[in-house]
Amino acid sequence: MKYIFGNWKMYLDFDESNILANALLQEKFDENNLKLAIFPSALAIREVIMAMENSAFSVGAQNVSWVEKGGYTGAISAQMFLNVGSEYALVGHSERRHIFGETDEDVRKKLQACLEIGLTPVLCIGEKKEEKDSGLRNTCLQRQLAVLAGLDLKNKEILIAYEPVWAIGTGNACDPVEAEQVHHWIKEELKKYSGQEIPILYGGSVKAENVISYVSLPAIDGVLVGGASAKFETFVSIIKKVEEII
Ligand code: 13P
Repeated sequence: MKYIFGNWKMYLDFDESNILANALLQEKFDENNLKLAIFPSALAIREVIMAMENSAFSVGAQNVSWVEKGGYTGAISAQMFLNVGSEYALVGHSERRHIFGETDEDVRKKLQACLEIGLTPVLCIGEKKEEKDSGLRNTCLQRQLAVLAGLDLKNKEILIAYEPVWAIGTGNACDPVEAEQVHHWIKEELKKYSGQEIPILYGGSVKAENVISYVSLPAIDGVLVGGASAKFETFVSIIKKVEEII
């Protein structure tokens, strides 16, 4: 099973999201060997979930609030996303951490909220260029993974996305062999927190031209695609490329 998840970020408005969702519906994909999911904006998610019902695609939220309800202007809770049919939620995406100032403690609370209600979290981790250059990659990832301590992961589904910050939206994708080494390291680190096998996706400048170099490696369970997932041709060509090798 390989995972191909598409994070549409804030690239598409309501109409554009629905147009892309409906275009994806016209295609046939290998549902037995692929796990496909899209992450539209909160504005479009309900419409996209309804369109994707009975399709190969699951739908997830890009961000959630850990509080269920209340005076939190602008926020949407994990529970509210679950109520409209979301299956997944991205938690701790680098853009949330570095543009919106989300802390590890925020990430921990969001993970906990998702796990408690049955929304599958995709915990996004990744080091900045300065951290990589100064040999602090593992220290950073270790800190970001430490939010899993104390969470009840038993029989819960959770995924990790390794997305080096310097590779996101830059065209400077991580060397696949290097990414696989990091995935191996993450798998070892995860043993501190869970006895279960947790899938790890790679994200950062994935496109049709390089996707095979990642998904053909055993420690890379799939990809989390940003920019290239928000356009029909590029997203479909990524999925078709992966279908050729599974
Ligand atoms: P890009 O594929 O645009 O580099 O984005 C990756 C990402 O952030 C997915 O969550």
